Amino acid sequence: MFDLIVRNASLPDGRWGMDIAVSDGRIAAVEAGIVAEAGEVVDAAGHLVSPPFVDAHFHMDATLSLGLPRLNRSGTLLEGIALWGELKPMLTVEAMVERALRYCDLAAAKGLLAIRSHVDVSDPTLRTAEAMIEVRQKVAPYIDLKLVAFPQDGYLRSPGAVELMERALDMGLDVVGGIPHFERTMAEGAESVAALCRIAAERGLPVDMHCDESDDPMSRHVETLARETVRHGMQGRVAGSHLTSMHSMDNYYVSKLLPLMVEADIRAIANPLINITLQGRHDTYPKRRGQTRVPEMMAAGLCVAFGQDCMMDPWYPLGTGDMLDVASMGLHVAQMTSRVGMRDVFDTVTVNAAKAIGLEGYGLEPGCNGDLVVLQAQDPIEAIRLRANRLCVIRRGKVIARSAPAVAELMIEGRPGSVDPAAYAPRSAGPEG
Ligand code: FE2
Repeated sequence: MFDLIVRNASLPDGRWGMDIAVSDGRIAAVEAGIVAEAGEVVDAAGHLVSPPFVDAHFHMDATLSLGLPRLNRSGTLLEGIALWGELKPMLTVEAMVERALRYCDLAAAKGLLAIRSHVDVSDPTLRTAEAMIEVRQKVAPYIDLKLVAFPQDGYLRSPGAVELMERALDMGLDVVGGIPHFERTMAEGAESVAALCRIAAERGLPVDMHCDESDDPMSRHVETLARETVRHGMQGRVAGSHLTSMHSMDNYYVSKLLPLMVEADIRAIANPLINITLQGRHDTYPKRRGQTRVPEMMAAGLCVAFGQDCMMDPWYPLGTGDMLDVASMGLHVAQMTSRVGMRDVFDTVTVNAAKAIGLEGYGLEPGCNGDLVVLQAQDPIEAIRLRANRLCVIRRGKVIARSAPAVAELMIEGRPGSVDPAAYAPRSAGPEG
């Protein structure tokens, strides 16, 4: 007797006709034709069943604040930072908690059950940290929320930031952040990376820095981040977020940089929706895309994840809480349209993102958390193509959200019937291409 069985599932690795049994919140068995009773049975009807989506990079303290106190007119990163600075004195803990909880409702409905959020700790009140710690506790039954102490205004540039970082970490934030490209000089950026890595090493915490988020081909902070990671023996615990300058770097230099990043086992987190809209703003034509070198990093063996970064905030007026939207944008920008490339992109918002943020118990093996998403698609590529409907979202063996299948009824004369977008899948696509 299991708590829940999902029957007739197609799995991301290509297995089909599988049953997944969950007991005591954990996956107990993944086999074809499990003969057993269960408290609840979900018929996947051959659809793709995946572990939940993971957002490796988000800003929960700013989400849904679009228009407060005004809109970003230039659309640039720097005006976004300035606008956020105008909003910060007006923020209240209650309003931030309320907006974050509304966002988390949407995330849960989209099967997004783990999020690493950067939390601005530049304001002496640390209201943002207080609010996000409350949200982390409130959403814990349905979303794993990890919080990064993020010195938005610069760790060395902003008065008091050094002390605020220590206070925020003492409050219980999970990860040490940074923003070296926003420090006054390249030298101070490098100094901030070294100082923040030292703090993380002393406290035994992971690191996730906004790093080289510019079009500057000479930005060199990820190099320093890799060096400091190795110096402190923190391989596998350090993430570089954005890394957009790598798009513009000299190819010879990148050929030297990538092995350094591999040596440090840096987790690379791109944010396709934001990178494609914020970068290249100073270009005329041709305009650079600004997304970091995703396929090249994957080929080098780095763990590459995607984040949503923003939804309806000072930096980005759009966003849907849908990691398949993020995956689709990243796939297009990186031109990863081969079958293997598209399949790899699905990992950036699932297994790679889970690894990038150090999520425990993630996966589809027995013993993993009983967290599952039933998608209205037959495989991971179709899921991205369709931004597939989440038919059912399961957390620790309990159904927490359902959506009706997306099917349209046609009323065209001579063409009656229903249209199921998922029915347009290719009949026999091989694994290569
Ligand atoms: Fe960010």
